[in-house]
Amino acid sequence: MNDMDPKKLSADEWDELKFPRPEVCDFDRVVESALSRRGFLKNVLVYGSGAAVMGSSFLKGDAAQAQTRFPFEPIPAYTDGTVHVPAGYKWDVLVRWGDPLTPEAEGDWNSETGGSVEMSDKVFGENTDGMELFNIGGREILCVNSEYTNREENLPQAPEGVPQSADDVLKLQNLQGVNIMEIEETDAGWRVVVDSPYNRRITHNTKMELTGPVAGHDLVKTAADPTGMTAMGTMNNCGSGKTPWGTYLTCEENWNGYFGSTDESFEFPADYARYGIDPEGWGYDYHKWDARFDVSQNPNEPRTQGYIVEIDPSDPSSMPKKRTALGRIKHENAECVVAPDGRVVVYSGDDERGEFMYKWVSRDAYVPGGDTETLLVEGTLFVAKFHDDGTGEWLALTPETTGMASAAEVALMTRTAASAVGATTMDRPEWIATNPIRAEGYCCLTNNTRRTVRPNAGGDPTPVNGPNPRPENQYGQIVRWRPHGANHASNTFDWDLYVMAGNPTVHDDAYGGSANMNEGNLFNSPDGLAIDSTGLVWIQTDGNYRNEGDFAGNGNNQQLAGDPVTGRIERFMTGPFGCEVTGLCWSSDLRTMFIGIQHPGAPFPDGEGELPRSAIVAVKREDNAIIG
Ligand code: FEO
Ligand code: CA
Ligand code: CA
Repeated sequence: MNDMDPKKLSADEWDELKFPRPEVCDFDRVVESALSRRGFLKNVLVYGSGAAVMGSSFLKGDAAQAQTRFPFEPIPAYTDGTVHVPAGYKWDVLVRWGDPLTPEAEGDWNSETGGSVEMSDKVFGENTDGMELFNIGGREILCVNSEYTNREENLPQAPEGVPQSADDVLKLQNLQGVNIMEIEETDAGWRVVVDSPYNRRITHNTKMELTGPVAGHDLVKTAADPTGMTAMGTMNNCGSGKTPWGTYLTCEENWNGYFGSTDESFEFPADYARYGIDPEGWGYDYHKWDARFDVSQNPNEPRTQGYIVEIDPSDPSSMPKKRTALGRIKHENAECVVAPDGRVVVYSGDDERGEFMYKWVSRDAYVPGGDTETLLVEGTLFVAKFHDDGTGEWLALTPETTGMASAAEVALMTRTAASAVGATTMDRPEWIATNPIRAEGYCCLTNNTRRTVRPNAGGDPTPVNGPNPRPENQYGQIVRWRPHGANHASNTFDWDLYVMAGNPTVHDDAYGGSANMNEGNLFNSPDGLAIDSTGLVWIQTDGNYRNEGDFAGNGNNQQLAGDPVTGRIERFMTGPFGCEVTGLCWSSDLRTMFIGIQHPGAPFPDGEGELPRSAIVAVKREDNAIIG
């Protein structure tokens, strides 16, 4: 520790010491530029200046079509303990934390204990997050991440949820990772097919193959595998992705929090700091009970985490593959799209204040039915640089561009590589989605209360910049880009802000948000994102739900739908108090929308006196029409 340790300084002190504000603040200029100069939504996004005319002729044609884009009546904000959907829609619970995924786990649920350790890797895990549905031979197979744990609920008999034994730790490890399960729709609604051969749990202890440049590197040789060719477990699985060849992508986000040191004198390797690996960990206390997580004994273990992992849901015996070529960051999700020439593009954000947005482009073209093994191994990783004039470029991360010694170093220390090429610091990139109708991408920049206040963990300053125009940004925004040549493999793009969240009932400046924010659709901290087959942009939130002050009128976290052409955004669904709404996919017939309710603060869905349980709800129209 040196005397510049940010933990010993308040945010303001750090700011003043390291990054005094410029005498002339560019705030107004940059906001105005971001919203109006190049905006694809010129008519709606100029705040405080009234509506301008439609920006270009191709938008005019789409605008008429947009009038009918919203197939629901928007709902108000709610602050209660349940789920609300529009009139003419209904919802039901598909699965909750602790529900059995195998016959032997049936009857294991117990709200006094939160279920047994013995069955904890045979039940639906905790904190449902990203999910994708695969139709395999006519069967509906749902892959779902279980991101982290709520220890006080998961270990209700442990004081403050602090693990008291190796079994407590094992239970937490088992309740996280990935759930693969067959589901079916019956007359009584959707249910898990408990005895399906496809059902599988992947946990913090599941063996995985390391592929790409990191495989076999000295820095990933561990006690568990001295060859460095495999890794144990996938951790903090946040968002998801789906390849055209039918595999599931799960993304390792805040994996650093599981590691700690039992030896106070252990000198942390220099590369730990950029990823926030801390002697105390984040309270899971794995390192006190499981030596694999004690970095003083196993310093290479954290380097086996932080990747995108590919899983084949059609083969329950297959070993998951960590795709290290796609970089080691705090991956939010993995949005996969095929470029016109067949190359595979995977977008992924690094969700931490001031970190970056990435894109992978495969070397080889995807050929349906062909060999897909190289597609997430051989290729180039890029990082985004946004210019204030509404253009941007993708900068390649290679030994040549970064000055790093090898492709393995770029893959292991991806954040450092991106800093070296001058990537744009972002306001916490969460989910990225691409539009199936037009070559464009969207990324939720959820919030960044440290914008202009502190540098990122690598020391890169975080002044306001094009797509991140507000200091101490508590509301978040969604940036959108259109790759040049309508080609996601292109190295250049145009961008605008699709929405800048804010509260126009409280603020009359940029914190009031862009003009497509209004009293009827208040939300903050956009996070989950998916674009349906009609091009409707579905936005899920993970924000402040206190419904007061800057967030008055926002209510609980929620899901909204946005029109990509007019920018109009309406509220579709609200979750129970305290929850985050995250994870979204559709049944193969598009008549059911599956939505994740993570860490409800109310006793959802079982009611008073029961433990809150993360759950997936199935939302349908009462007339069973298509909803996406
Ligand atoms: Fe797991 Fe960044 O959300
Ligand atoms: Ca998220
Ligand atoms: Ca979030």
